[in-house]
Amino acid sequence: MPHIALPDFFTLRTVSWANDSVRMIDQTALPGRLSYLNLTRPEEVARAIRTMVVRGAPAIGVAAAMGLALAVTHSKQNDFRSLLKEIDSSAALLRSTRPTAVNLFWGIDRILKVARASGSVAKAKEAVRAEAKRMEEEDVAVNKRLGRAGAALISDGDTVLTQCNAGALATVGYGTALGVIRAAVEQGKLVKVLVPETRPALQGSRLTAFELVSDGIDCTLISDTAVGHMISLGRVDKVVVGADRITRDGYVFNKIGTYQEAVLAQRHGVPFYPAAPRSTFDLTRTHDQITIEERGADEVVKVRGRRIAPKGVRVANPAFDMTPPELVTAIITDRGLIAAPSEESISQVMS
Ligand code: MRU
Repeated sequence: MPHIALPDFFTLRTVSWANDSVRMIDQTALPGRLSYLNLTRPEEVARAIRTMVVRGAPAIGVAAAMGLALAVTHSKQNDFRSLLKEIDSSAALLRSTRPTAVNLFWGIDRILKVARASGSVAKAKEAVRAEAKRMEEEDVAVNKRLGRAGAALISDGDTVLTQCNAGALATVGYGTALGVIRAAVEQGKLVKVLVPETRPALQGSRLTAFELVSDGIDCTLISDTAVGHMISLGRVDKVVVGADRITRDGYVFNKIGTYQEAVLAQRHGVPFYPAAPRSTFDLTRTHDQITIEERGADEVVKVRGRRIAPKGVRVANPAFDMTPPELVTAIITDRGLIAAPSEESISQVMS
């Protein structure tokens, strides 16, 4: 693997609005190459989300919002109603990219609302640019707040197990689960992180390990199959993961493999904490109404393009799983902790 200068993930931006274009890190090239794409069309942003050039719930929410902002900014329409029609079709395309993370829909709706309320083409262009930039800044501020709330749960010397990548690369910056770890490190605590590789797309080894090594945070990469063994040996003090959607009844949808961590954590008396901002909460739906994305077979039968399974084998590739609230010790949010989450406590904090 070629040597690349290690970036500082405490300050790096995964997605940003720059000169009326969307600048994003190409996450498919990591950890080998840190390169940026400059996108100017909503179709390009939709493709980037679908192919996981950008991934992670908050990051795709902001990217989709910016994709829609591109549609408004670069539209040739002179008439306001025609502009709204045009952006409705871009919104539909962006919505179709990935079904599980609710942040995607939150981001699109936020830009649509601003555009609709603006009243003219000129005002729409001005207002959506400002909103896109605001969402970028807000994301980092929210993660830092969430990080500080969660850091209170982390003791000096803890080993924290995570899953997938809920770091700076899954957000505009700083991260949610890794934001908690960064905040604890900033408070002077020694924190060790256990990073499962997270098959099939390997966000743990490619992205989380890369972030933590870059920032000099102590981490150990393990195979997904080692999780139960490490917990059973007492090598995990806390589990902190991200979330793609938390439904009104307290079910946590996150990267496949999260549920087994939660079950094992409970079996061994280890606290289990999902960390998520307000934009990840879906107060309108219950767990039985959520679509879990099923991705292509290639991710499973191949590792980084190389085939590892026989041709003709049947494959199932659910990208997310669902953890019920009874396995959750507390949810860490930018509005504080929700201990023993329930429909009532979630609606109290999030409404
Ligand atoms: O398929 P991905 O890589 O988009 O899945 C990402 C996750 O599951 C993250 O844990 C989740 O989005 C939280 S990110 C702060």
